Amino acid sequence: MTSNIVPLIDCSTINGNFDEISAIDLNAVANEIGAAMTGIGMCNLINHGVDMKKIETIYKVSDKFFNLPEEKKLKYRCDVQTKSIHGYGCAGDQKFTEATELKEWWYVAGLDADHECKYPNEEIPEFKLAFDDIRSDLKNLTKIFLRCVEIYLKLEEEFLISKHQNLGLKKHIEMRSLYYYTIKPEDKIPENSIRLGEHQDFGTVTFVMQDLVGGLEVKTSDNKWIEAVPVKDAILVNSGLLLEYWTGGLFHAAPHRVKKLPDMRMNARPRQSFVYFADPDEGTHVYPTLPVLPQKKMEFERFGNRVIESTSFIQGLIDASTIRRY
Ligand SMILES: [Fe+2]
Repeated sequence: MTSNIVPLIDCSTINGNFDEISAIDLNAVANEIGAAMTGIGMCNLINHGVDMKKIETIYKVSDKFFNLPEEKKLKYRCDVQTKSIHGYGCAGDQKFTEATELKEWWYVAGLDADHECKYPNEEIPEFKLAFDDIRSDLKNLTKIFLRCVEIYLKLEEEFLISKHQNLGLKKHIEMRSLYYYTIKPEDKIPENSIRLGEHQDFGTVTFVMQDLVGGLEVKTSDNKWIEAVPVKDAILVNSGLLLEYWTGGLFHAAPHRVKKLPDMRMNARPRQSFVYFADPDEGTHVYPTLPVLPQKKMEFERFGNRVIESTSFIQGLIDASTIRRY
């Protein structure tokens, strides 16, 4: 049995520069983070040190972009063939289940891919800067989170951090700005449509920043869906499949989805979220470092007790959920 709410964790004692945080303060928060992530598999961090004004700026430039005329947005549509997914995606470009997903997004690839990245500089000159500006805050938080995992699981210091040296550099996705556009009662939308279909994240850890509109749900280990109620200025944390495998299933990669709101009038307002993906450096070998939990043994059989190569594993899952148009 797990709790039916996403735990709230105050990080005010550890929200500075990673290199200056005391071990005692880290230990205390590591215990809270570990308990949450090995339980429901998610937690909400508050006072986390990420400048939320920068997130507001991302919402603002994203809102401008998603409200451009369709032909302008389509100029920046991601090309899933290149393996450097960067740019605009529209309803129908991705789905995790059979249902149509009513959303648009902008993917940001890592800096190494910049030479092939397009940004809507002409329409929104401040767009690229808004995303560039948030990188260092989120890299710092990733290090803090990974150190907490190392402490909680008594892993060798730097075991995880040393495998995340190139955050934001590699070619595939680093960040994603999501826009769940308005749906009016008279709009003809497929009966079984959803905002974002059920899935687990792919890599190590995901940080989700969401506005206060709501709709995000998480599946508990007893298969009940509960709402991840938005908390102002909080960052929702969830483990990806690679971290789950690395930890023998202890850090649960919780399935999640975004539903249409039950009263159609509530969908008359767009929902925005911003997501940061921390994945291992390219070519990292991932294997269970702890005994596999009995309840995860069957699930892990699909990996055949293999060492997983992180980049191709993540790319395979991106390919599987992205609809090729070519
Ligand atoms: Fe997700």
